[in-house]
Amino acid sequence: MSFFRSNIEQMGGYVPGEQPQGDKFIKLNTNENPYSCSPKVKAAIGHMIQRGLQKYPDPLATAFRIRAGEVLGCDPDWILCGNGSDDLLTIATRAFVEPGDRVRFANPSYVLYRTLAEIQGGQCDVVSYQPDWSLGPAFTAGDARLKLAYLANPNSPSGTALAPQQVAEIADALPCPLVVDEAYVDFADNHCISLVAENEKVLVTRSLSKSYALAGLRFGFLVGQPHMIEQLSKIKDSYNCDALSIAGATAAMDDQAWLTQNQATIRATRQRLFAQMQELGFASVASQANFIWNPHPTIAVEPLYHKLKESGVLVRYMNYPNWEDGLRISVGTDEQIDACITLLRAAM
Ligand SMILES: Cc1ncc(COP(=O)(O)O)c(C=O)c1O
Repeated sequence: MSFFRSNIEQMGGYVPGEQPQGDKFIKLNTNENPYSCSPKVKAAIGHMIQRGLQKYPDPLATAFRIRAGEVLGCDPDWILCGNGSDDLLTIATRAFVEPGDRVRFANPSYVLYRTLAEIQGGQCDVVSYQPDWSLGPAFTAGDARLKLAYLANPNSPSGTALAPQQVAEIADALPCPLVVDEAYVDFADNHCISLVAENEKVLVTRSLSKSYALAGLRFGFLVGQPHMIEQLSKIKDSYNCDALSIAGATAAMDDQAWLTQNQATIRATRQRLFAQMQELGFASVASQANFIWNPHPTIAVEPLYHKLKESGVLVRYMNYPNWEDGLRISVGTDEQIDACITLLRAAM
């Protein structure tokens, strides 16, 4: 006898990238930032610990929303905070998708979208990227049962990004809300925040995990029009962000100089990694994110993943339906990338 809803029993469940604890591996598999966060973040968290944690946190993370609003140029009531941006993707899916509804996303893209849709009993409407990583008209095709679309921009695993104007056109054409998942946008040339004011259907999610080097803290936020935020807020856990994460995330937002410096470093290493992977013959894709997608036209890449792992370097081997497989390599430090390239060269 089963106690579970049938869609829960039938679904596979999301499997996150390997997270070995400790320092055994050079970890280039889940797009973490290789550098330690701003010292101001550590100080703010230390200060909060000194004050004590006996009280509940601010349910709306107001301090963060004020600071982020100043950085982004919007009022705090356009911002909803979450326990990582995954929490906000979950909230949006719960808000819009009922059993039998359709949820659209692209392939290859962030695998969690499928899981979130399946938890709701939604049906996945998967649109393949074109070979040049653009999206054709199928992504905006009308469908009465379509209730939500997700667009990772920059996308994972490709690291490619659609221009804001293209995203605006997609949002206009869709009959439903469009979550523009900007988890990696701080490494990109453009972002879509300005589209939120133009179109109530646009909901932009951001993460502090990658560009602020705070994957372990769990903090993200969503930008939407205030009437959308008001409805979405009803769904979140009362205290979905804890006091330490609110303090740390607010300090991170406060230190835009740290972000600017880190962005420049990651972009420079990304360029090196790209050039070296191309030299090794990979069909690497030019990236707007802190990772690079590397299929190879002639060599099987899965054995390379295993050989790297045996030598202590963890990258992500990814094999999507109807798409060539590849290695997704996060942009680490220059030393980490050099070690990875040396091992790859030897393995090939
Ligand atoms: C495309 C994309 N969106 C969202 C996330 C989730 O990030 P967070 O750590 O903020 O939950 C990830 C994490 O890898 C991602 O790749």
